[in-house]
Amino acid sequence: MPTILITGANRGIGLELAKRYAAAGWVVIACCRKPKEARALAAIRGEVEIRTLDVAKPASIARLKAALGKRPIDLLLNNAGVYGQRGGFGRTDPKDFLATIQVNSLAPLLLAEALLPNLMKGGMKKIASITSKMGSIGDGPGGGGYAYRASKTALNMVMANAAAELKGKGISVVVLHPGWVQTDMGGRNAPVKVGDSAAGIMRVIDGLTPAQSGRFFNYDGSTIPW
Ligand SMILES: NC(=O)c1ccc[n+]([C@@H]2O[C@H](COP(=O)([O-])OP(=O)(O)OC[C@H]3O[C@@H](n4cnc5c(N)ncnc54)[C@H](OP(=O)(O)O)[C@@H]3O)[C@@H](O)[C@H]2O)c1
Repeated sequence: MPTILITGANRGIGLELAKRYAAAGWVVIACCRKPKEARALAAIRGEVEIRTLDVAKPASIARLKAALGKRPIDLLLNNAGVYGQRGGFGRTDPKDFLATIQVNSLAPLLLAEALLPNLMKGGMKKIASITSKMGSIGDGPGGGGYAYRASKTALNMVMANAAAELKGKGISVVVLHPGWVQTDMGGRNAPVKVGDSAAGIMRVIDGLTPAQSGRFFNYDGSTIPW
């Protein structure tokens, strides 16, 4: 049975992915900040292990790494994310901007670095990170969401760069836009249901070949410009 480690698994897209991977027979290492409050996660049937992880804290990443030891992991799914301040030009809060970068851009890299030995032992050797089309420069930024947009653009570069470096180790690295999804972050007016987003993300990751490493995918399998 393959093993997935997913961050931010207590709600939204992460929770739905945890449910679906567990239903598909995977061992799910479901990470969240407050396991005791993760009732929906605890209710999932299947092989789900709930682990504490605050991705913004390098010490928390180190504790998780120590707890996992040399255990093989087939797929690392960096999902946890924050939107940060919503104001436009002229309203930037430096603290919020850096905190958003910490969670959305730096943490996925630190986690991938920490868990590289585990991924090397896994059969699938895949790292997938949930980015956003809002981080695409080629798609045409429409204003606002400076911290979020910049953090996802940085995440895209981090993962494209890691894809180039890890190619020789047989590890495939991609970033995926989940659609505009009905979650706490996406809001009620979002057009994409969380189940459809998660199903699409799983389909893309499932079909991922080493030749596709380093790409920016939409949840429907199409490619998004950088
Ligand atoms: N929804 C959309 O329309 C949309 C569109 C494009 C991209 N995305 C991306 O998709 C991913 C999931 O988003 P979502 O819509 O499911 O958002 P969500 O409903 O707001 O859930 C965010 C998840 O990230 C976790 N998280 C935040 N900061 C964390 C930290 N420091 N350590 C560990 N976990 C942390 C949250 O945990 P807590 O409960 O502890 O806060 C929660 O589980 C994010 O990367 C987001 O940027 C979403």
